[in-house]
Amino acid sequence: MESSRGFSFLAFIAILACFAFLASAELHVREFVIQPKPVKRLCRTHESITVNGQFPGPTLEVRNGDSLAITVINKARYNISIHWHGIRQLRNPWADGPEYITQCPIRPGQSYTYRFTIEDQEGTLWWHAHSRWLRATVYGALIIYPRLGSPYPFHMPKRDIPILLGEWWDRNPMDVLRQAQFTGAAANVSDAYTINGQPGDLYRCSRSETVRFPIFPGETVQLRIINAGLNQELFFAVANHQLTVVETDSAYTKPFTTSVIMIGPGQTTNVLLTANQRPGRYYMAARAYNSANAPFDNTTTTAILEYVNAPTRRGRGRGRGQISPVFPVLPGFNDTATATAFTNRLRYWKRAPVPLQVDENLFFTVGLGLINCSNPNSPRCQGPNGTRFAASINNQSFVLPRRNSIMQAYYQGMPGIFTTDFPPVPPVQFDYTGNVSRGLWQPVKGTKAYKLKYKANVQIVLQDTSIVTPENHPMHLHGYQFYVVGSGFGNFNPRTDPARFNLFDPPERNTIGTPPGGWVAIRFQADNPGAWFMHCHIDSHLGWGLAMVFLVENGRGQLQSVQAPPLDLPRC
Ligand code: C2O
Repeated sequence: MESSRGFSFLAFIAILACFAFLASAELHVREFVIQPKPVKRLCRTHESITVNGQFPGPTLEVRNGDSLAITVINKARYNISIHWHGIRQLRNPWADGPEYITQCPIRPGQSYTYRFTIEDQEGTLWWHAHSRWLRATVYGALIIYPRLGSPYPFHMPKRDIPILLGEWWDRNPMDVLRQAQFTGAAANVSDAYTINGQPGDLYRCSRSETVRFPIFPGETVQLRIINAGLNQELFFAVANHQLTVVETDSAYTKPFTTSVIMIGPGQTTNVLLTANQRPGRYYMAARAYNSANAPFDNTTTTAILEYVNAPTRRGRGRGRGQISPVFPVLPGFNDTATATAFTNRLRYWKRAPVPLQVDENLFFTVGLGLINCSNPNSPRCQGPNGTRFAASINNQSFVLPRRNSIMQAYYQGMPGIFTTDFPPVPPVQFDYTGNVSRGLWQPVKGTKAYKLKYKANVQIVLQDTSIVTPENHPMHLHGYQFYVVGSGFGNFNPRTDPARFNLFDPPERNTIGTPPGGWVAIRFQADNPGAWFMHCHIDSHLGWGLAMVFLVENGRGQLQSVQAPPLDLPRC
C-alpha cells in the first residue's frame, strides 16, 4: 500500500514534468503577407515589397524546441519564396525556401505555409526572400532563445538589440537586377546602407529618421548584428566602445573584445557592449569592406547610441539640446588585414565535435568568370570587353531549373531537371590565385548536384580564384552548420595546410567568406537528407551562377529520411 502510493506519486510527478516540458515548447502561428508598400528613403518614395507592410520585416522571437507555422500570402506581383537562413530544417527541406531548389515559388495570389521545428539551435538567425533580388526589402530577424531554464555560456544582458544592416537602391531592386541580367554587365551598386531600415545622418533626407538606441550608463546590452545586405561585406563599429563577440551564425564563441567587426552578407554576429564611456552620443556605423577590384557603394550608414544622461547643448534653434555624436574609426575599404585578423580570432566556445575522419574530400574553386559573345557589340554583352559576367564553382556556372524544383524532381523521380555529376575537383588544375590564362575564364552552364551518402563526413576546401578579380565570397550552406577548420592566402596546399587545421575549437557557422585570393576549409557531417543549396551570399554572384546543390541521400528508416512534402507545397 505504502509503496504503491509512493510509486503513483512519483509517476504523477513524472507526468507533470512531461507536461511542463511539452507546454514549454510553443507553436508560433504567423501570417506573412507579401505586399507592396510606399517606403520613403533618400528623398524618394518607392513601392517596396514588404512583409505585412513592414520594412524591415517582423522579428520572430522563439525558443529552442518551438515550432513555427508561417503562412506566406503573396499579394505582390512577383513570385516569391522565404528562406529561414541558418535553420537546419532536419529531414524537412520543404520548409527551407530557395526557389527552384526545394520548392517552386509562391505565385502572386497563392500562399504556402512553412512548418518547421527548431531542433537544438539557439542564437541569432534571420529570414529573407529567396527569389531574385526581393530580399533587398523582404528580410527580418529570427531570434532563438534557449529553452526555458537553459543558461547562456556568458552573462546575458537584460536588453537585446537587433541590428539589421541592409542595402537600399533608389530604384526598384528588381529593375536593377533585370537591367543587369539583360546587359550582362555588373548590377548598379546600392545607393545607401541601412541600419534597421534607415540610412542615417550621412545621407540626404534621412537625418530625422536616424535610428537611436537609448542606453543607461553602466548598462550592458547585446547587439544582434545581421548583414542582410545584398552584395557587400561590411565593417561595423561603435564610437569609443569595445565590442565583445559572443556568437556568430547562431553558435557561441569564446568571447573576445574588438573595436570593429567584419560581417559578410548572410552572417550574424552577437556582441556585448557596455555603456562605460562619458555620457554622450556615439555613432554606430557600417561601411564597405571591399575586397574586389570592382565598383562598390562607398557610403556609410549610421545610427546613434544615446546615453540617457547625455548632456544637452544650450542655445537656440537647430541642433539645440543635442550634442553631435562622436564618430567611430572604421578600417579602410580594402583593409583585408583587419578583416582577416577579425575572422581568425573566432573560436567555438568549447571543444567542438568536428568530424576527424573525412569521407568526402572536396576541392571547390569559387570565383567569377566571363562568357564570350559571338557579337561583342550586342546590347546583351556589356560586360568587360563585350562579354557577359558569370561566376562558378569548379567551372560550373549554376542555372536554376524552371520546370520543377530540384527537391521535388528528386522526390518524385522526375528526370531532366538536374544531373548529379557535379565535379568534386576543378576540371583542370592551375595556379588559382596567380595570373590565370584567358582560356580558363569561361565557365560552363549547368544544373548539377553532388550526391552525399547519409552521415558522410565532408570536407570542402573553398578556393577563391583571381579570375576577373580575387574576392571575399561569403559561402552559405543550407541545411547545415559547418566548422571552419582552416584558411589561408594563395593556393591551398593539400600536403602542408591540413596539418595546421584547428580540429579542437574551430568556429561553427553557416556562412564563411573565402579570403580574397585565398582558401577556407570547412567540415560537416551530412546528417540531414535533402537537396541543400550552397552558394555565394552576394546576390549578384548568385545570379551569375556561383552556386551548387548537395543532394544528401536518406539513411535507414523514417528518422533518417526526408519527410513527405506538405500538401500545399507550390507546384511549378
Ligand atoms: Cu541566406 Cu540561400 O540564403
